[in-house]
Amino acid sequence: MWASQRASSVPGSVFSLMDAAKMRARGRGLNVTDLSIGSSDQHPPLSVLDELRAATHDPATYRYPLFSDTQPLRDAAAAYLARRFGVRLNADTEVLPLIGAQEGLAHLLLAVTDPGDTLLLPDPCYPPYWGAAAVAGLNVVTLPLLPERGFLPDLSRVPANVRPRVLLLNYPNNPTSAIASAEFFREAAAWCRERGTLLVHDHPYAELTFGDYRAPSALEAGMEGVVELHSLSKTHHLGGFRVGFAAGDAGAVAALARVKGAIDFHPYLGIQRAAAHALGLPDEVGRVGARIFEERRDALLSALRDLGWEVQTPQASMYAWAQVPGLRDSVAFAVRAAEETGVVVSPGQAFGERGEGFVRFALVQPPEVLRGAAAKLGEVGV
Ligand SMILES: Cc1ncc(COP(=O)(O)O)c(C=O)c1O
Repeated sequence: MWASQRASSVPGSVFSLMDAAKMRARGRGLNVTDLSIGSSDQHPPLSVLDELRAATHDPATYRYPLFSDTQPLRDAAAAYLARRFGVRLNADTEVLPLIGAQEGLAHLLLAVTDPGDTLLLPDPCYPPYWGAAAVAGLNVVTLPLLPERGFLPDLSRVPANVRPRVLLLNYPNNPTSAIASAEFFREAAAWCRERGTLLVHDHPYAELTFGDYRAPSALEAGMEGVVELHSLSKTHHLGGFRVGFAAGDAGAVAALARVKGAIDFHPYLGIQRAAAHALGLPDEVGRVGARIFEERRDALLSALRDLGWEVQTPQASMYAWAQVPGLRDSVAFAVRAAEETGVVVSPGQAFGERGEGFVRFALVQPPEVLRGAAAKLGEVGV
C-alpha cells in the first residue's frame, strides 16, 4: 500500500531465492558451502583496524563529519590515484568519499540524470545496477557482453540515434571477471564525449589482479566526462565498513555532493581515517591478498575443467564465470545444487539475460573447499 511506483520498480533479487534454498539445505543437515556472495573472507590489514580503534577513542570523531573533515581521505585518494595510475586530480573538486561504491553509484545516477534519460548498461552486470537505474527512473538500453568479445561491449553497435546520458562500465568485471585495457577506456571515453554521455566506471576490483597484470583506470582517458567509483570493500577487505570514493569530472562530482548532502553526512570520521591509512599502504599489502584469490582461482578452474565446464582464466576479480554444458535454466540449477549438495553458487541469469547458461563462483573459500564444491556440482544434473 505504501510502496511508491519508484520502490515497486526496483527488481526483486534472485539472491533471496538462493537464501531460501540455502536454509532448506541446512534443514536437511547438509554442510553448506556458500560461494554465492563476493564478500571477502580475508582479514583487513591490522594497522587499518588499529587506526579505527584509536579513532573511536578520539572525541573529535564523534560529531557529524562535514565536507572539510573529509580532506584527509580526499587527499589520500588523490595520492593513491596519482601513485597507482599516474592521474592527477584536484582533491577539493574531483574527489568525494562514499559510503561504498554501491551507494555512490545510486546517488550519482540521481545526480546526473533526469527520469526517462537513457542508461547504457552491460548485460550481464552487477544486479544492483538495475535497481539504481529503476530508482532514478532511467530507460535502460543493454549492451551484451559476449565471451567471444572477451566480455567487452561493442559500442559501434549502439545506433547513432541513441544518445545515452550515462554509459556504465566495470572492469575487472563482476560477474565475468573480464578485464579491459587502457586503450579500451580511451576509446570508450572518446565515444562518450562525442555523444554527450558521461562515462561511469565502477572499479571496486582495481587491486584484485593476478600475476603481473595491473588494472588500468578509466581516468587515464582524462577527467572530463569520466567518473570512477573506488571501494575499499574488496581491495582492503573492508566490505562491512562501507567506504569508497568517487573521482573524476568536477561537474559530476559536484552534482553528486549536492545530492548526497541531502541524504547523508559522509562516512564516520574513524572509518575515513582508517580508509586514508589503507590507501597509503605499500602496494605489496594488496598483492598478498590478491595472491590468495589467485591460488583459489587455479584450484577451482582445474576442478571445473575436469567436469568439462568452460571457463576463461580470470586475470582479476574474485569470481569464476563458468559456462555449464547444456544449461538452460541457471536459477533452477543453482537452487537444485544448493538443496542437493549444499554448494551455493549464483545463477548466471541473476546478472541479466546474457548470463543464462552460466554460474558464478565467488572465490571466498580455501582451495580444497573449492575443489570439493566443484566435484559435488558435477553430480547435479542440468
Ligand atoms: C561491481 C561492483 N560494484 C560495487 C560493489 C559494492 O561495492 P561497495 O561495497 O563499495 O558498495 C560490488 C560488490 O560486490 C561489485 O561487485
